[in-house]
Amino acid sequence: MPETISRNLDEEVLLELSKIFHEVLLKDQRINFLFENVDMAALGRKQSWFFTSLALNKSKGTQKYMRLSHEHLVEKYGLADAHFDALINCLEAALIRSALDPDTARHLLRQAENLRPYVLGTAKAD
Ligand code: HEM
Repeated sequence: MPETISRNLDEEVLLELSKIFHEVLLKDQRINFLFENVDMAALGRKQSWFFTSLALNKSKGTQKYMRLSHEHLVEKYGLADAHFDALINCLEAALIRSALDPDTARHLLRQAENLRPYVLGTAKAD
């Protein structure tokens, strides 16, 4: 994990944040239907991968991984900006409830926003 994030992100806080995020996400009617057919183990894995992917945002591999792991959602459900906005709202809500310091929280949000074009497939990662 890059120093910028690992500096402030201890494991316990991250675990708590993941749980809160999971909870908030499944309650959000704008996007929770997307997770209906995803089994719980996969969803659990997604939570930790989610934050790892944010931490690794700068690497080209992450951008390509984001495109590949969401392109079926773009094709099948028309995953678009409104869904991405909803996910950002959920992340914000979870960050506010977590014990994360505000600087790291802002950093994570920026990292998430930077991945938008790759998740939605509007930019090609190479
Ligand atoms: C910065 C934004 C995002 C990050 C870092 C992220 C991260 C991830 C990761 C790591 C996975 C797991 C891929 C794998 O199985 O290897 C995943 C899957 C998934 N993501 Fe995202 N995601 C983001 C945005 C979104 C958005 C905006 C939505 C929908 C609102 C979404 C919905 C899903 C769903 C439903 C899956 C499971 C797909 C499946 O297993 O069929 N993600 N995401």
